[in-house]
Amino acid sequence: MSDTIEKQITVPDFVGFKVAGQKITMLTAYDYTSARLVDSAGVEGVLVGDSLGMVVQGRENTLPVSLGEMIYHAEIVGRAVRHALTVVDMPFPSFHLGRRRAVANAARLLKRTRCQAVKLEGGVEQADVIEALTSAGIPVMAHCGLRPQSIHQLGGYRVQRDEARLTADAQASQQAGAFAIVLECIPAQTARQITADLRIPTIGIGAGAGCDGQILVFHDLLGLTLGRLPRHVRPFADLKTSVVEAVTRYRDEVRSGAFPGPEQSFE
Ligand code: KIV
Repeated sequence: MSDTIEKQITVPDFVGFKVAGQKITMLTAYDYTSARLVDSAGVEGVLVGDSLGMVVQGRENTLPVSLGEMIYHAEIVGRAVRHALTVVDMPFPSFHLGRRRAVANAARLLKRTRCQAVKLEGGVEQADVIEALTSAGIPVMAHCGLRPQSIHQLGGYRVQRDEARLTADAQASQQAGAFAIVLECIPAQTARQITADLRIPTIGIGAGAGCDGQILVFHDLLGLTLGRLPRHVRPFADLKTSVVEAVTRYRDEVRSGAFPGPEQSFE
């Protein structure tokens, strides 16, 4: 693994990428090994997403994930990343209980980890929280469109089509001081228009090619998804098959006595 990348990407760099027309690539990571691998591949951003509730903990949705669990994973990932901007999700309801509690919780995330920014779900209705955090020097990535923490209110994981609301959320997030916005599962044309109208970069997931960047869940990218593959995912590898094949071979060689061989044994 190469460690030759010298400079860690900063929050202002993200806006610079948009100005320069350079696409931004982001990926989630939840542990040390995956974070080192993702970072060494040269992506611009790593997100310690609360999707870890489903991917790592096997939960039904992201709602049960606690602040302590986010700190645990973000601390590990922060130790691994040397190049990418590292962003950590604020879990439900760590930013819903007033500005002071939100600032205190976001500050805990940054003080206890090497992450450089927080992400939170919401636009118009979270604008005062985004403003409070950015006033405290805490960079915020907003998250509009499909907001998994509002899954019960939204009635399911479905494409969000209310263009007026999506536009208002994106504009309010920028106005409140967010440095970037994740746009999740919205029509490509709406995402393209929002992207053109904003100064700050948009990072799409299920939002088409018109965004300034893209983000995927690490396990989805590598073909490690256990359930149904969301339409917006393109697996770039089939590690699920590779893992099961390797473990099956190991099991068979233990059973046949072929493993361990002389090379794996000591005199
Ligand atoms: O929690 C997460 O991983 C996310 C990304 C998929 C955007 O919010």
